[in-house]
Amino acid sequence: MARRVIQDEFFRKAKREGYVARSAYKLAEIDDKRGILAKGFRVLDLGCAPGSWIQVAAERIGPRGTLVGVDLKQCEVKVPCKGETFVADAFKLDPEDLVDRAGGRFHVVLSDMAPSTTGAAGGTDHARSVQLCRKVLELATGVLRENGSLVMKVLEGEAYPSLLQETGLHFRHVKGLSPRASRDVSTEIFVIAKGFRSGGANEAPRRQSHVAPRAPDPVSGWGADSDRKDGA
Ligand SMILES: C[S@@+](CC[C@H](N)C(=O)[O-])C[C@H]1O[C@@H](n2cnc3c(N)ncnc32)[C@H](O)[C@@H]1O
Repeated sequence: MARRVIQDEFFRKAKREGYVARSAYKLAEIDDKRGILAKGFRVLDLGCAPGSWIQVAAERIGPRGTLVGVDLKQCEVKVPCKGETFVADAFKLDPEDLVDRAGGRFHVVLSDMAPSTTGAAGGTDHARSVQLCRKVLELATGVLRENGSLVMKVLEGEAYPSLLQETGLHFRHVKGLSPRASRDVSTEIFVIAKGFRSGGANEAPRRQSHVAPRAPDPVSGWGADSDRKDGA
């Protein structure tokens, strides 16, 4: 069985480069490949503590961008652009309050949240994680602007294809990505959804597929040969 290496390449790199967690490189890779963040964007970060995604997002949205971060714990990082972080349960949030805090609907919703895992066989961790993602999806549909994007972490398992399909009811493009910085023993994968359709399931979807699109696509990095660590 593969052992979890605590102080790996990304841990050391994060220390050197001043990020509060190695997770920074997951968001950086997601954005490099999928072009999620841009200057001046409003970003909601669910489960933001200790704050490395806040650091990466702030670099990419610049001083005119706005970041709103929420976590059950205090975030270590102070938002270096417009916005704030605050302590709350992401599922007791009022979408209107979030939009007010940001000064408008969000261009991007990020969620690196995971349920407390049991490690037990039988898919309990996966089931909880999918349940969490469904709540994130619900919240995202209440706060995103038309064409916005969603990045959410899920632990892979049998309900993963259905989760992609459900996400595809609200977004034009949906695909999974497993960043290099995800630990080798982790089953985590990130669902990346772009092109939010505020009309939701009532509007005919242009693309709901969770299969990697091969045709040329206007989004940079979309349709890359493989987005999984294992090359599958
Ligand atoms: C993997 S950490 C996030 C790391 C963060 N992206 C970073 O780069 O620093 C997951 C976070 O989700 C938070 N979390 C889990 N469930 C939550 C909930 N219901 N509401 C708010 N935060 C939650 C945890 O407290 C934890 O800090």
